[in-house]
Amino acid sequence: MTPNKRIVLSSDHTALEMRQAIADHISAQGWEVVDIGPTTTQSTHYPAHGAAAAQRVASGDCRFGIIICGTGQGIMMAANKVKGIRCGVCTDGFSARMIRQHNDANMLSLGVRVVGEGLALDIVDAFLGADFEGGRHATRVDMIEPLG
Ligand code: RB5
Repeated sequence: MTPNKRIVLSSDHTALEMRQAIADHISAQGWEVVDIGPTTTQSTHYPAHGAAAAQRVASGDCRFGIIICGTGQGIMMAANKVKGIRCGVCTDGFSARMIRQHNDANMLSLGVRVVGEGLALDIVDAFLGADFEGGRHATRVDMIEPLG
């Protein structure tokens, strides 16, 4: 079976430049980017963009999602409301690796007002470069979904 190499990207109005930098970076690594906007800096609402990206992941259309808002927090909260989504905000590579290895995260959230572009790309690399370890972590991850 061909692995799903598709990643959905979205943000609110604060992060168009960072989103493009991530799109360029991961495209060069062979990921197929599905950028669902927004395309202008006109003020918009992060829950709509977080949910839209999350639905692409939850449906299986995209393997992972990367979402960005000012802090990464609001858009993460919205994404995590979609069934099947495990999204964490990361400000460092260690956490980004761990949310894949231990939490089987399928979405990564970044704060454009918190991390610079270079660090954001490092975080993305750590996230995409790590695999879920399963085992005892699978037992714990399986306990998340029934919570709501
Ligand atoms: C928008 O100003 C800001 O509130 C948003 O990007 C985000 O930080 C919310 O969590």
